[in-house]
Amino acid sequence: MSSTQLARAFGRSTLSLGSGRLALRSASTWAKVAAGPPDPILGVTEAFKRDQDPRKINLGVGAYRDENGKPYVLPSVRKAEELVISKGGDKEYLPITGLADFTKNAAKLAYGSDSAPLKEDRIAITQSISGTGALRIGGAFLQRHYPHSKTIFLPTPSWGNHTPIFKDSGLEVKQYRYYDKNTVGLDLKGMLEDIKAAPNKSIILLHACAHNPTGVDPTKEDWKQISEAIKEKEHFPFFDMAYQGFASGDIDRDAYAVRQFVKEGHQIALSQSFAKNMGLYGERVGAFSLVCADAEEKARVDSQVKIIVRPLYSNPPVHGARIAGSILADQGLYNQWLGEVKGMADRINGMRSELKGLLVDDLGNKNNWDHITNQIGMFAFLGISPQQVEKLINEHHVYLTKDGRISVAGITPHNVKHLAESLHKVTS
Ligand SMILES: Cc1ncc(COP(=O)(O)O)c(C=O)c1O
Repeated sequence: MSSTQLARAFGRSTLSLGSGRLALRSASTWAKVAAGPPDPILGVTEAFKRDQDPRKINLGVGAYRDENGKPYVLPSVRKAEELVISKGGDKEYLPITGLADFTKNAAKLAYGSDSAPLKEDRIAITQSISGTGALRIGGAFLQRHYPHSKTIFLPTPSWGNHTPIFKDSGLEVKQYRYYDKNTVGLDLKGMLEDIKAAPNKSIILLHACAHNPTGVDPTKEDWKQISEAIKEKEHFPFFDMAYQGFASGDIDRDAYAVRQFVKEGHQIALSQSFAKNMGLYGERVGAFSLVCADAEEKARVDSQVKIIVRPLYSNPPVHGARIAGSILADQGLYNQWLGEVKGMADRINGMRSELKGLLVDDLGNKNNWDHITNQIGMFAFLGISPQQVEKLINEHHVYLTKDGRISVAGITPHNVKHLAESLHKVTS
């Protein structure tokens, strides 16, 4: 009997024979699972890998690269890791909310050592699986315990993972205007209108600094207006701070919005990531915190955070938290780390200036490229069309996401000229 006849005999459509085993594909439990779309950013990297041209540049990845385009382990991280290993710690489970020596100092880093809620012991904080995990815990906590709304408003555009994270947490996701494509800057008017139009006591997600993907941040004056609008509407602000220090090179400056909102009396939620500012990407080090009214409320909130974390992943990984905790606790290592974060930010900002200089001064490109240096953080939104993006990829071997976002961390002194010339050609 042929395989087709066999399949017919069994009433199934597909039959394959392999290494002596008979597998009836359509009989599989997962036969009806549809293939999902590929991750757009990983797709860029795949296409980059296939390209054999020596001039190729990958500006899709969201990780820092040194001036030779190589991954960078911070020397302070190496030192801290040696310190951790020399202590010969065990591999026991951490408590559900993680390493207290780490979370205590993570809160200090974000809120500032003079923060009133910190001094008054009313910040509930848990270690998390980096920033993504912090957002996910926050989403779940708000879904269960925020009494006024189950809707979170995200900026348009926002980091691609925000929508799935909050939907998976059981929240409804809506948008507020943020980016103005005509000015390649902030649409403050649209943002304020949408915040004011949202039902009272909605949840508003804010990027604390280095907005991803646009690199467009509100100014201090803009933040004041945003804070007032949120207060007027009694909304709940949830800050995502994935780039503290990495944006400007100054950890206090990058925490401005978070600290200002707290000073103005907002009871914020906060997600922190140590992926970018300590280069601890794969170690998955982060924290989620909530400002509470007093220590007693904090204890109750803490107990509910534990109830969320326990069935999700039981307790967080220990190694990365020990590294980050050592850096934050040791004055010498901490100062060294501050210098290294600034070094990363300075290299990125240097590349921004160089790219703009080459485009405007050397190549005489007539478009306005001020946004390249006005934007902040790892990414630059070029403000170019999808057709121009396609040309960059297909004709110039420059890989980036369809929305025209480039990771400035992928630009080096060796490839910036080719990038500028390519951009010039597709925009002239
Ligand atoms: C805005 C934003 N939030 C959160 C994250 C979380 O990253 P991770 O889970 O690696 O800390 C990222 C990473 O790219 C991000 O850009």
